[in-house]
Amino acid sequence: MTELGNFDFPAEMLVCPVCAKDVVASYCSGCNSEFFSLGDIPCLFTTGIQQKNLWQHQMAMMESQGADALEHLDYILQGYDISPLTRNRLEQSRDAMSESLDMIMGQLKGAGLVSRREPLFEQARVDNPTEYYHHILRDWAWDAEPSKHYRTHVNEANLERVLNVWKNPRPGKMLFLGAGAGRLSWDLHKALQPEFTIASDINPFLLTCANSLIKRRRSITLPELYTYPQIGYPFSRSWVMQPPDDPGKLHEHWYALGADVWNMPLKENCVDTIVTSWLLDVTGGDVKDLISVIDYLLKPGGYWINTGPLLYSGQLSFDLKYSAEEILDFAQMAGFDVEQQSVEEIAHMASPLNARYHHEQIFSFSACKRADSRPAPVPGNTDDWLTPPWLIMHHQPVPRINFQCQMGHEFIRQVLGLVDGKRSIYLIAQMVQPGLPEGVDAKEAVIALFGQILEQMADVGE
Ligand SMILES: C[S@@+](CC[C@H](N)C(=O)[O-])C[C@H]1O[C@@H](n2cnc3c(N)ncnc32)[C@H](O)[C@@H]1O
Repeated sequence: MTELGNFDFPAEMLVCPVCAKDVVASYCSGCNSEFFSLGDIPCLFTTGIQQKNLWQHQMAMMESQGADALEHLDYILQGYDISPLTRNRLEQSRDAMSESLDMIMGQLKGAGLVSRREPLFEQARVDNPTEYYHHILRDWAWDAEPSKHYRTHVNEANLERVLNVWKNPRPGKMLFLGAGAGRLSWDLHKALQPEFTIASDINPFLLTCANSLIKRRRSITLPELYTYPQIGYPFSRSWVMQPPDDPGKLHEHWYALGADVWNMPLKENCVDTIVTSWLLDVTGGDVKDLISVIDYLLKPGGYWINTGPLLYSGQLSFDLKYSAEEILDFAQMAGFDVEQQSVEEIAHMASPLNARYHHEQIFSFSACKRADSRPAPVPGNTDDWLTPPWLIMHHQPVPRINFQCQMGHEFIRQVLGLVDGKRSIYLIAQMVQPGLPEGVDAKEAVIALFGQILEQMADVGE
């Protein structure tokens, strides 16, 4: 197996996503977790090599579902009562589906994966790696046709939108979280020429497509197929996507990374810019936690650039579907100064092959991580006492204030004993979790404890 140390990647940035120790060859020097490569893309997940097994299982599932669908179409095509026009439509669909399956499998196999079911994942609901298939086409194919919706092309408009909220950009070391098929990461990389760009994502198909086009400079062919008829549009088309122009060999400083945004294998304060594009609403997690990840990775004085909608998935709990104002407020509490923002309504995923498209509201902003950690503001009213930033943003240090309460219970004594002005609610919760009964969430318990203490202190103060 290729050693991680041999990758063309700024390896000095990497740490183990489990214990934050150095990665030596393919292993963590601390906990011995084993990592792997997807082609030449380093992949560092907390589940180690199991992530590769999961991807291979997803591949096998996709292959068998694709084969079933093709077999079904073949069966229908054997019918005697199919008109020539229907046959023509079904044959076109069959060819596009078959080409698509071959291309996806070829792309993943080319990156060293094999299609293999894993008993461990048989009972689990596994994602489909082609979930964002059309994003690859949006990023790299559709600009070949004139756009009905943009002055030039959608990708140029996406780039412009970001640059409009990012005045005097000094990107330094730039990290994209959830970079997808990579186009915006490339366009910003080309426009701003940072020291380097890392485009991270959890999806193996998107990672290999972005890497093939940008880094390996190889073309990719993918078909686009619609199963519903549209008057005046073809059912399908095969797109040949070419590597982007790069006379200055800027791709040498662009790197793909297989990583989960919730456990990034990168050092603290290691990058100058973090870009999140169409990400905040799709991770399935709490945006407050994502802000803590960004805060951890970004150097003081660095910039967080965000662009995308707030179309949280239906499954996300209602209390986590934060508004734009709430998100900016969290950023402010976490120590960011929001500098520019914009709201725009745009045509999204508007394919030249599709009459139908999405109309989305895009919220973009730039926020600078304050270089100085300001002292906690002096509370002005009871609400400030009840909801200090460190209680809302769980990664912020709990200040050493005189928490007045009865030390009756061992849990209270233990939690308050851990307050040193540096530890956060997250960290304190992690430290007390082992001592709690099974099923008790330490973070919830710690938040409730501080909340009750502050409530009592506010009552006394009134
Ligand atoms: C809606 S797409 C946006 C892709 C790209 N940023 C863009 O603007 O086109 C969301 C991306 O986030 C990635 N993603 C979602 N959850 C992730 C996670 N936990 N870790 C890393 N990437 C994630 C998906 O794989 C997908 O590529």
